[in-house]
Amino acid sequence: MIRKIIVSFLYLFALSSFVSAKGFFPKEELMSLGVYYYPEHWSPNQWERDIKNITDHGFEFIHMAEFAWAQLEPIEGQYDFKWLDKVIELADKNGLKVILGTPTPCPPVWLSQKHSDIYIKDAHYQRKEHGTRANMSLSNPIVLSYTKKIVEAMAKRYGRNKTIMGWQIDNEPEAKEDYSEASQVAFRLWLKEKYSKVDALNEAWGTAFWSQLYSAFDEVNIHNATNVGWWGANPIALLDFKRFTADTQAAFLDFQAEVLREYIDKTQFITTNYVAKGNGTDPRRSTKMDFASFTAYPNYGSANLGDLGFRLGDYSVLMYANDYYKLIDGITGVMELQPGQVNWANHNSLLQPGIVRMWLWHCFAGGSSYACTYRYRQVLYGAEQYHHGIVSTDGVNLSQGGKEYAQVIKEINQLRKEYSSKSEMPEILQKRKAAIMWSFDNLWSLERQKQTSQWDTWKHMQGYQSILHSLGAPVDIISVEDDFTDYPFLIVPAYEMVDEALVQKWKDYVSQGGNLIISTRTGAKDVNAHLWESNLSGIMNELIGGKVQTFDMLSAGKSGQVIMNGKTYQWSSWGDQVIANSTSDILARYNDQFYKGDACIISQSIDKGKVWYIGVESLEGLLERDILKRAFAYNDVPVENYPEGVFVMYRDGFMVAVNYSSKVYELAYDGKYLLGEKVLKPAGVSVWKSN
Ligand code: GAL
Repeated sequence: MIRKIIVSFLYLFALSSFVSAKGFFPKEELMSLGVYYYPEHWSPNQWERDIKNITDHGFEFIHMAEFAWAQLEPIEGQYDFKWLDKVIELADKNGLKVILGTPTPCPPVWLSQKHSDIYIKDAHYQRKEHGTRANMSLSNPIVLSYTKKIVEAMAKRYGRNKTIMGWQIDNEPEAKEDYSEASQVAFRLWLKEKYSKVDALNEAWGTAFWSQLYSAFDEVNIHNATNVGWWGANPIALLDFKRFTADTQAAFLDFQAEVLREYIDKTQFITTNYVAKGNGTDPRRSTKMDFASFTAYPNYGSANLGDLGFRLGDYSVLMYANDYYKLIDGITGVMELQPGQVNWANHNSLLQPGIVRMWLWHCFAGGSSYACTYRYRQVLYGAEQYHHGIVSTDGVNLSQGGKEYAQVIKEINQLRKEYSSKSEMPEILQKRKAAIMWSFDNLWSLERQKQTSQWDTWKHMQGYQSILHSLGAPVDIISVEDDFTDYPFLIVPAYEMVDEALVQKWKDYVSQGGNLIISTRTGAKDVNAHLWESNLSGIMNELIGGKVQTFDMLSAGKSGQVIMNGKTYQWSSWGDQVIANSTSDILARYNDQFYKGDACIISQSIDKGKVWYIGVESLEGLLERDILKRAFAYNDVPVENYPEGVFVMYRDGFMVAVNYSSKVYELAYDGKYLLGEKVLKPAGVSVWKSN
């Protein structure tokens, strides 16, 4: 029942306006730095020393308690806040603010003894158990009722405390598949809410295929791809399960936010710390928090460049988080930024000296209002031994990462003196502003039906994002609900599920002078993930000025040729054969295979604007890069040519350059540098005033 109420709330408020998040972080302070502290891991007689040292290093806030349910409520209904009171007092005495985490990732053992069924069941119907974190079924009413009690107790205790600057709900929300009984019940309710009548579900899921028809919602079990076989599973039922899982996670956050909101002061913010790339969640599905924050461990990923790449990190982590999170509520911050070596990657190398500092500056450039790091002291026991902190195992001396944090704190203090509230983004950058339209529903759907192991939805989207940054364009990743009319350039990469209204919105944007760049697979399906009873992406024919006839893909390691303006490009993973209307120009054609001469990129003008359809994914994005350059040139907007991994970004009157590539890069700016210099080394940072 509670579940149902939460889910319906989610729908009701989905489109309502957000609580304004502005004002929590004064703009002139630029970026405030903080650190995680776990008093429960250390002897109380070290707390005073630690808090004082944190202050002396220049940190402005600490973050506590998100895993301390067992210490805060050692016996059901009996709370122990004395230890936390003590550390909050110490923080206050030392001029530090505090972010409190709600401790719901880690249910205490008494709860599992009393209710052994509070845990998630995995796809093998194996129940999780006590001894780790993020293991509870968020669909379970018992979980919600205990969550409410502990969150309420904390909110009552600290909601008016002036040292508390805000709240982080739970930790790194993760939309975990849950096949428990509670989840099955909640899923049926969710389906009822969505489809009302079982016939509508049958139609949407296409249950006519393979005798899957239902006559009542109660007959529906969560489709379990592990059981029915990956290939045999119903893709639309699975997509709905993904949507439900993300909604459940979002509703859990909103549920806690509402409990907090009843007791806390308006000056305290509510946020959560999403894993940079989402972890199955969809941050836009929660509507009750003030803003969304993210965590970033950039060492681990796939976009590591050159010889030093494994020490410099994957540039796509912060590139994505920077362009995505601030758009949700107009404000964001990095809640956890890697302080040094970690203990959970395939190999946990030492980082390049300077790179932690550079990541911090990359967060700054991306607009983070604060940057916090996990964690102050390197823990001596538990699952995260060998994970660096700001200080090393002796609890006092700064680690390499700790030194870099301390350095950035000093540098930010310097920069605060240079800040002017009158600064404005240089005109040339405004002209280059680009939005990328992105949705997690599309990601989930495309990843389920990739058609080729070479297809990678993230990589496809981030390829465009990376090109835009290399051209020096400010980039925002937006959602379909956002108003994009003010962006001169709108990129729509592989936006698979569309409806008439969206296609019309795109047409209007172009008519009024917008530049719309659409990539392959866009519009292939309707919002129920059905193909159109037409040609492929038939709903797009008029907009793109042509028809996608069919598509091809080559086997891994094989490449085909595309020719544009006499230049040859290679492709392998995806290629549409497009028939252009008389209104369109053919910009690129295949140069081999049996369909040699067929078009893959077309373009047409509609009233004041222009549409480009890029029906092919080229190797290393070289073709896409040239098309984007053409689109900017068509609008007389000059662009840059930064190498991959070099970011030069504007923020609050400053230009910030960082370098993830393993090569030295020489910046064009000849004036005075506030930090760094013209020569930008790997892991280097240069900052100068924008005007
Ligand atoms: C994060 C998590 C932290 C800590 C950290 C270790 O993903 O939120 O609690 O476990 O990883 O790197």
